[in-house]
Amino acid sequence: MMKKVLIKTYGCQMNAYDSSRIQDVLAPLGYEPTENVDAADFVVLNTCHIREKASEKVYSELGRLRDMKLQRAANGRAMMIAVAGCVGQAEGAEITRRNPAVDLVFGPQTYHRLPELLKQRGDTGAAVVETEFEVANKFVALQSQPTAIQSVAAFLTIQEGCDKFCTFCVVPYTRGAEYSRPLQQIIEEAQKLAAKGVREVTLLGQNVNAYRGAGDNGPESLARLVTHLSQVRGIERIRYVTSHPRDMSDDLIAAHAQNEKLMPYLHLPAQSGNDGVLKAMNRGHTASHYRKLIERVRKAKPDMAISGDFIVGFPGETAAAFADTLQIVRDVGYAAAYSFKYSPRPGTPAAEREDQVPEAVKNERLSRLQALILQQTATFNQACVGRNLAVLLEKPGRQEGQLIGRSPYLQSVHISSPELKIGDIVPISIKSVGSNSLSGQYDGVGRV
Ligand code: SAH
Ligand code: SF4
Ligand code: F3S
Repeated sequence: MMKKVLIKTYGCQMNAYDSSRIQDVLAPLGYEPTENVDAADFVVLNTCHIREKASEKVYSELGRLRDMKLQRAANGRAMMIAVAGCVGQAEGAEITRRNPAVDLVFGPQTYHRLPELLKQRGDTGAAVVETEFEVANKFVALQSQPTAIQSVAAFLTIQEGCDKFCTFCVVPYTRGAEYSRPLQQIIEEAQKLAAKGVREVTLLGQNVNAYRGAGDNGPESLARLVTHLSQVRGIERIRYVTSHPRDMSDDLIAAHAQNEKLMPYLHLPAQSGNDGVLKAMNRGHTASHYRKLIERVRKAKPDMAISGDFIVGFPGETAAAFADTLQIVRDVGYAAAYSFKYSPRPGTPAAEREDQVPEAVKNERLSRLQALILQQTATFNQACVGRNLAVLLEKPGRQEGQLIGRSPYLQSVHISSPELKIGDIVPISIKSVGSNSLSGQYDGVGRV
């Protein structure tokens, strides 16, 4: 009898990658995926600790799962609950103390040991908490595991962890020190994905452009890795996320000008446009460094779509400092950007500061910044109307015969063309812009 597992994913793309690998690890134990909690024998919450809201969500979800587990026990049916990911790593045994219905807690670097942890849970009858850091071992263990393909566009983690210690951020504590996977290991994973029909890979890392994986002749750069991956048969498109302004090297910028498989989209978080705030954040770059970087990138690749992340209401942020953030956004002109209210996180230096910005001020700043970003995204999208964009078709749309794909600039594009199928890369002439997507038409030529 197959058992069913529901994996709920919160947080960033690295968690999405981990969730699919957790599924791969569980498959040989007889678990098949389900989206329905009532059908699930095992529920894994793959959690995010980045902001307070994200981690609080986990505890409320666990409350509901505990009730369900008790109800089932009364009917003689079992249910296992695991907390994986960054909350698991950060809070460890505190989770099983707050909620004894939780069977397993493990972090982002230990899920390859799930078979063993599940056995230990069965043998001892006690909750198991496993939060070691052993990144290299994880990837070696996962290498031999067959991969189930979720889409023609796949994530591929190449780098994990962070040594930068921005004063607001928990990632260095939840994911551990910076680690880059060896070049060959990544190429082999890309080949496996391509053999199953994947046409686009998004290379993932908390500081993906700081990649320094071992190659045959010493450490390799992200630009070199991209060159290798663009030679993997079947891989037509390459993306990478998230980059840090400090690690944006000349060879990577040049790769955008030279390599057609490298998509013209750069997610480069600035966080703030004010040098005092950037310094207090320990970002290691100034606003002018960031502006110059964007200039260099656009010189190499004029149509590059830029996206970013911003935090408003960092401790000590004045009205003038916030105005600098609005100004850098105006100057850069983003295709997309994500903005967040600063959330004090336990154990991070900025959380200890006494000059926290009041909630009402954060709200007001956030809505002003978001209005500006929304306007920029609309302008960027509108400028695509009338153009022909190469779209990789990824999934069916809601309407009969409709397909949804992505443009080179990561915009979602809706098309209704019965002759097309998922996995095609086709030139689409863009006709109109919706709130979150573009619509276009296939003129019958140029399918790849
Ligand atoms: N490594 C990436 C970001 C990882 S976290 C980088 O350095 O840019 C993703 C985003 O969450 C960050 O870019 C930041 O904007 C936001 N973030 C991180 N910690 C936060 C906090 N304490 N409060 C609000 N937003 C935060
Ligand atoms: Fe967090 Fe800064 Fe590291 Fe990004 S670079 S993960 S924001 S500490
Ligand atoms: Fe969240 Fe962990 Fe990613 S804290 S953003 S899931 S690295």
